[in-house]
Amino acid sequence: MPVERGSLNPGTAERRPRITIVGSFMTDLMSRSPHLPVPGETVMGGPFQMGPGGKGANQAVAAARLGSDVNILVSLGKDQFGDFAYNNLLREGIGVEFVKRVEGMSTGAALIIVDDAKGENMIVVAPGSNSALGADDVDKGIQVILDSDYVLMQLEIPLETVEYTAKLAHASGVKVILNPAPGRPLSDELLRAVDVLTPNETEASIVSGITVTDLATAELAGKALVRRGCPTVIVTMGGLGVLVVDANGAQHVPGFKVDVVDTTGAGDAFNGALAAALAEGLGMRDAARWACAAAAISVTRIGTSVATAHRDEVEAFLAGRP
Ligand code: RIB
Repeated sequence: MPVERGSLNPGTAERRPRITIVGSFMTDLMSRSPHLPVPGETVMGGPFQMGPGGKGANQAVAAARLGSDVNILVSLGKDQFGDFAYNNLLREGIGVEFVKRVEGMSTGAALIIVDDAKGENMIVVAPGSNSALGADDVDKGIQVILDSDYVLMQLEIPLETVEYTAKLAHASGVKVILNPAPGRPLSDELLRAVDVLTPNETEASIVSGITVTDLATAELAGKALVRRGCPTVIVTMGGLGVLVVDANGAQHVPGFKVDVVDTTGAGDAFNGALAAALAEGLGMRDAARWACAAAAISVTRIGTSVATAHRDEVEAFLAGRP
């Protein structure tokens, strides 16, 4: 059944859109701080919080909460944090058949400090077992990948695994979204196997080599990446919204004004929602607007995947907004 433009109708869909995440899980260890420390400084922070994180798992949760049928290929340690991750994925209704558990490696963890005043963050990731997700694991989950509408990846797992998956999915006609976070240079070969690239300003600068500071420079960077072979580049720009760049030019999709509490995981909320919306058949601009709404909701709450919006919340948020 066709999906109405600008809205998502899971109840009417004959088959829920299928998304496979090939990505990371991290246990987020977070505290708020009156300001972000400078080197050598100790700051008395707020309460300690622990939660499920990792860009891959966060994006999986975001897409699942919006109604997609989500599977994840992820590598966890055989430790307490790995059990915590596994149980959380199950609770969120995410397919765990291809979750790998590795002996002798710690599950990934992220040390996060959030600036109390601005909601901005600093993150150090200890990848642990995420670095053990290889091409052989992708081969084991090949059927679930080939049955997907979209494969969604990030860069907290080995780059070779991302390249292998992207080429395999692309060659089989499965659409690929790559959120190049954390940023690093990427080959043209990889860019040609990606349908939608979603860097933030910092990542767009790293991947394109053009410093992105505003919409004009985002357009330059986006166009350079389109020329290198990726058909659509969406540069995410925080409260400013996103810039969608393709061979036809650039379109600005404005962000929504909300009271920002914590920006951590907003990019993940955006990417998960973008994949869900595109997999349901929305056009690029409408899907980007939906995803901006999901990201806007997430920054009004503390935490990463726990702050991710459910479908009814995104619909209520957008209702009445022109
Ligand atoms: O994008 C936010 C995420 O980055 C956090 O959940 C943290 O785990 C790091 O992966």
